[in-house]
Amino acid sequence: MKLNSKYMGLELKNPIVASASPLSRNLDNIKSLEDAGAAAVVLFSLFEEQLIHENAAMDHLLSSGANSFAESLSYFPDVEDYEVGPENYLNLIRQAREATDIPIIASLNGASNKGWIEFSKKMEQAGASAIELNTYRIPVDLNIPGNEVEKNYINVIKAVKSSVSIPVAVKLSPFFSSMGHVSKQIDAAGADALVLFNRFYQPDVDLEKLEIHPSLELSQANEIRLPLLWIAVLHGNIKASLAASRGVENATEVIKYIMAGADVVMTTSALLKKGISHLSVILKDLQKWMEDKDYESVEQMRGCMSQKNVADPTAFERANYIKVLESYENPYLP
Ligand SMILES: Cc1cc2nc3c(=O)[nH]c(=O)nc-3n(C[C@H](O)[C@H](O)[C@H](O)COP(=O)(O)O)c2cc1C
Repeated sequence: MKLNSKYMGLELKNPIVASASPLSRNLDNIKSLEDAGAAAVVLFSLFEEQLIHENAAMDHLLSSGANSFAESLSYFPDVEDYEVGPENYLNLIRQAREATDIPIIASLNGASNKGWIEFSKKMEQAGASAIELNTYRIPVDLNIPGNEVEKNYINVIKAVKSSVSIPVAVKLSPFFSSMGHVSKQIDAAGADALVLFNRFYQPDVDLEKLEIHPSLELSQANEIRLPLLWIAVLHGNIKASLAASRGVENATEVIKYIMAGADVVMTTSALLKKGISHLSVILKDLQKWMEDKDYESVEQMRGCMSQKNVADPTAFERANYIKVLESYENPYLP
């Protein structure tokens, strides 16, 4: 049975990739992910703020003399908050490449088109097989129009693409008024893959302390529907590879995403909940399902449920929404 998959030009042994998470913070975990069957590992993100703070701290240090190092750290307190600095990040890429046989994808997380982008070159030199760009940004400024947000994405992508020769994936948020058009523009800007979707930080209110409460909840399998919709719509319509990144708990979600048209399927929450070895369970169950249903390769399944290939393409559109609402029967009423 052929599980091999191609993702932005990288030849992978299967379609399951470990997405960016704290699991990749140390080499042993990266090796365990490979042992469990991960076809590639995306490292946790290095943030624009880290790079900018580090440069600023260094400038401050150089301009004030070596004795003021402690002072410069307190001047930029955030520098101390990050466990892994840029140099250690590059070392981790080198070590991971040395210790594993799978592609190691570095992750850069930033929103502005500033000097941090050049760090992608260093990631490439350290041995990263590709770069995943996470342009996480919440446009809370009410004066910023949508097209400016989109233009910013495109500028950042073009800047990163022009500084490296390895493939560049872009992890996107679903919050665009025309997701398909934005995807096409990003594709045209040279992105080698789209990763759908980023999970946004959504603050909650703590009713006891009357404070905004930052919280990060792990995903559930029912969250696959939004990425599934867009993967199904984009499959066959753009050059860039498609990675599904949300709600993969078991082989079922992997199969659905591949059928919608994903080139690879990524997982984090399930591994944080059940441990790295759960990846091997997902892989085994995928193989078992394919055997039972007489599929010979992942390629054979890929895209069979995309919008282009389903019998009723309107199933993804407004018409179906109306049908669904009309057919709803409330299971809670007698
Ligand atoms: C604890 C935690 C840390 C994460 N760190 C990063 C990160 O550094 N960079 C990034 O792009 N995504 C990060 N993510 C997002 C995941 O890579 C993934 O896209 C998201 O969790 C959805 O996938 P899932 O449903 O399989 O968890 C993180 C997610 C979690 C839960």
